[in-house]
Amino acid sequence: MPRIFSGVQPTGNLHLGNYLGAIRNFVRLQDDYECIYCAVDMHAITVWQDPANLRSNTREVAAAYLAAGVDPKASIIFAQSTVPAHAELAWIFNCIARLGWLNRMTQFKEKAGKNRENASLGLYAYPSLMAADILAYKATHVPVGEDQKQHLELTRDIAQKFNNDYGTETFPIVEPLIFGEATRVMSLRDGAKKMSKSDPSDYSRITFTDDRDMIAKKLRKARTDADPLPAEEKGLEGRPEAANLVGIYAALADITKQQVLDKYAGSQFSVFKPALTDLAVETFGPVGEEMKRLMGDPAHVDAILKDGAERAIALAEPVLKEVKEVVGFLAP
Ligand code: TYM
Repeated sequence: MPRIFSGVQPTGNLHLGNYLGAIRNFVRLQDDYECIYCAVDMHAITVWQDPANLRSNTREVAAAYLAAGVDPKASIIFAQSTVPAHAELAWIFNCIARLGWLNRMTQFKEKAGKNRENASLGLYAYPSLMAADILAYKATHVPVGEDQKQHLELTRDIAQKFNNDYGTETFPIVEPLIFGEATRVMSLRDGAKKMSKSDPSDYSRITFTDDRDMIAKKLRKARTDADPLPAEEKGLEGRPEAANLVGIYAALADITKQQVLDKYAGSQFSVFKPALTDLAVETFGPVGEEMKRLMGDPAHVDAILKDGAERAIALAEPVLKEVKEVVGFLAP
């Protein structure tokens, strides 16, 4: 059976982009695949995290999965650091991945910024750990937003090189699953930047914890242009902010961008924004509410994470055993 793996970093400020680009798709894949969903706390510490916040944010990612509709009985939900196979396999992959490959990673360049000498070694090796996350389960499909595509290509390169170097077929070549009308949700303040957890402006993103008033306020302030909405999708070209809001509407309503335009062609943003607010409050609002409710019962969330970790370990251990044999490590 094909197997799904995906993860979200517990770095706070979970937002609509995470929901529409990834988490909502996690839910939809549960019927057809065996699914493993992780809160990737080891990835989070590649940049500084306050320990108490990290603990809370890790539970929050799990709560967001549950609130969105991931079924903890059918799927596995766990925290990355509780399954040692990730770190072990990442080391092996550090010896497979080439510096030249990692030097091309745009996320590292963005996150390290100008002061690259001061970035952590972990931030540089980040994609190698991500490959380990996926391949520790021999997962075949990975649902993500558009921004993770390059990392998944690296995962494929690592799997291929490992298989070639050792003359085996140990690892599958994973397929990214990037689908829906909002695979790259942009900042509400700047249509050229993606919506992100680390943007200093709170008004750039709608978060899981925003209530109706906040969602309305953020959308009211969202940058747009002065023109009414066009009748055809190609009329959105060169209008990134308009295209973004139409894409968000389409994704939330589960229709195409063209269907949104069929309904709102000729409308001003003074009409479209309140409609989008109502839709967001109606569809995304309850997910945030449920996440907050679950955060009030951390013991319940922890029990789900513990059960998930046990099941994840049971799947990853045999894979690690096989990999160690292939590499030539002695059995303990
Ligand atoms: P992270 O935590 O940055 O984001 C979690 C998921 O949300 C998607 N996403 C978006 N989708 C649409 N529009 C946006 N503006 C937007 N921002 C984020 C991301 O593409 C992602 O799917 N490296 C990963 C976490 C990770 C992982 C993995 C994912 C670690 N190991 C293994 C898949 C498989 C990350 O930083 O996601």
